[in-house]
Amino acid sequence: MTDPSDKKRVLSGMRSTGKLHLGNYVGALENWVRMQEQYDCFFFIADWHALTTDYADTSKIKENSVEVLLDWLAAGLDPEKCVMFIQSHVPAHAELHLLFSMITPLGWLERVPTYKEQRENIKEKDLGTYGFLGYPVLQSADILIYKADFVPVGEDQVAHVELTREIARRFNGFYAGKRKCVFPEPKALLTPAAKLPGTDGRKMSKSYGNTILLTDPEPVVRQKLKTMVTDPARIKRTDPGNPDVCPVGDLHKIFSDKATMAKVNEGCRSAGIGCIECKGWAADALVKILNPMQERRKKYEDNPRLAWDILEAGSARAARVAGATMDEVRDSMGMSLNYEASRSAAK
Ligand code: TRP
Ligand code: SF4
Repeated sequence: MTDPSDKKRVLSGMRSTGKLHLGNYVGALENWVRMQEQYDCFFFIADWHALTTDYADTSKIKENSVEVLLDWLAAGLDPEKCVMFIQSHVPAHAELHLLFSMITPLGWLERVPTYKEQRENIKEKDLGTYGFLGYPVLQSADILIYKADFVPVGEDQVAHVELTREIARRFNGFYAGKRKCVFPEPKALLTPAAKLPGTDGRKMSKSYGNTILLTDPEPVVRQKLKTMVTDPARIKRTDPGNPDVCPVGDLHKIFSDKATMAKVNEGCRSAGIGCIECKGWAADALVKILNPMQERRKKYEDNPRLAWDILEAGSARAARVAGATMDEVRDSMGMSLNYEASRSAAK
């Protein structure tokens, strides 16, 4: 690994929701795998954030964290090139979260769009909790404790990074003193969102039950493709269609090579090919991407201890960086653990 000190730092996280799907891959993971070549990357599994909505039943959280990790490794995140860890294994995040909670005005949190949306959309759980309101404060701690330069996220998370910048500014304003800046303001790197439809044509999402998992074996992928919706105007085999309004066409655009894309365009519009044939080609393209992932994943599935060791080592590295930031934070607030330092800060 090259010296990380001259690289910009990237941090991002995913909640531990279990097995990942192709939408997670093209929406985030694929980008992370690229970024690890170029940046000093920290990627973590946000198990505490998963708790904000699933606090009543914690039985799946640990298992889900491991599933996420396995999918990361399968997709090509490499422990030699990036740091992978679990949020709850670096308790300093919680300490910083607490300190931030003291300086974050309630109005800032009530205005966060994801807060309002989720309160309205998720009715089956009581999200009127302290922790749920504080979700973005914890996220700010996740980001700032590593002094990240860049945070690759999807559109829906941009407001959280914006709040993070405001909390950094407020903290610096209160406590940085002659340091001028304890927390640099991170920038959101918007992941270019390829529109990835699920099998029902809506956005691929676990909550819609329309996903293709990174772990789906070839026959399952082919079966899911068979049931996928197509251009609704193409009812009979002899009706011409339009790949631009067909979810299978969208898959081709993302995963198929130029030659296949040309065959799809021509054949669909002239009714020269049938949807079954076209879906077969889309399945071929998916299988080609998924196969090497599933191959890489096997090594860790056969020996989960290996994966767990990666997390432990990653968490230890993350904890060192986080610990150094916390020393600085306590110092700047005049609350150093060290007696002499506290005395001089008070002056
Ligand atoms: N809130 C993010 C999501 O739901 C996950 C997350 C938690 C995160 N902490 C983070 C992402 C810090 C980026 C940086 O996707
Ligand atoms: Fe969609 Fe392919 Fe059928 Fe055209 S031929 S409607 S792109 S599945």
